[in-house]
Amino acid sequence: DAQVRELVESKLATIPDFPEPGVVFRDLTPVFADGPAFHALSEALTTPFAGRFDHLAGVEARGFLLAGAASVLCGAGVLPVRKAGKLPRAVLREEYDLEYGSAALEVHEGELAPAARVLIVDDVLATGGTALAAARLIERAGWQVAGISVAIELDALGGRARLDDRYDVRSLLQY
Ligand code: PRP
Ligand code: MG
Repeated sequence: DAQVRELVESKLATIPDFPEPGVVFRDLTPVFADGPAFHALSEALTTPFAGRFDHLAGVEARGFLLAGAASVLCGAGVLPVRKAGKLPRAVLREEYDLEYGSAALEVHEGELAPAARVLIVDDVLATGGTALAAARLIERAGWQVAGISVAIELDALGGRARLDDRYDVRSLLQY
């Protein structure tokens, strides 16, 4: 709600020309560092989806912070969606494009029960490549995507358009 948005926005750092000229970087680390703001943000990520998910999927790395905190507040467990090569058992892997080159995310197959409802949590939705890769992993594993919930959505990068015909996408702040 408006109060949470105001609190989070008041702590958010905005850095022009990072990591390169012309890019405005939205830095959540001061929000993470502030107990009440971090609490409020973590709670706000799941409340719109109440009753519609069994687990939270946190996307490495920044999504881990939010999914971990939110899971303790709402009582759901966390599915870690990891960068490639970190998980020790049999995995499913999904490649996605970065500005230069590509990367991959992985989950352990069989980590959750069949048809488990999983809410994807991350800090930022930009091009949507990360969230789409996470969603594909969840579906390939035989689970269901309950939605995609992020703190910040960068409108100009088109993530929503890639996702919202198939998934319920929510963001607390839009820029
Ligand atoms: C950042 C951010 C999101 C993703 C959004 O992660 O945390 O996960 O980019 O971008 P997209 O919508 O264009 O995919 P990044 O992989 O840069 O680093 P992290 O390990 O710090 O989370
Ligand atoms: Mg990330």
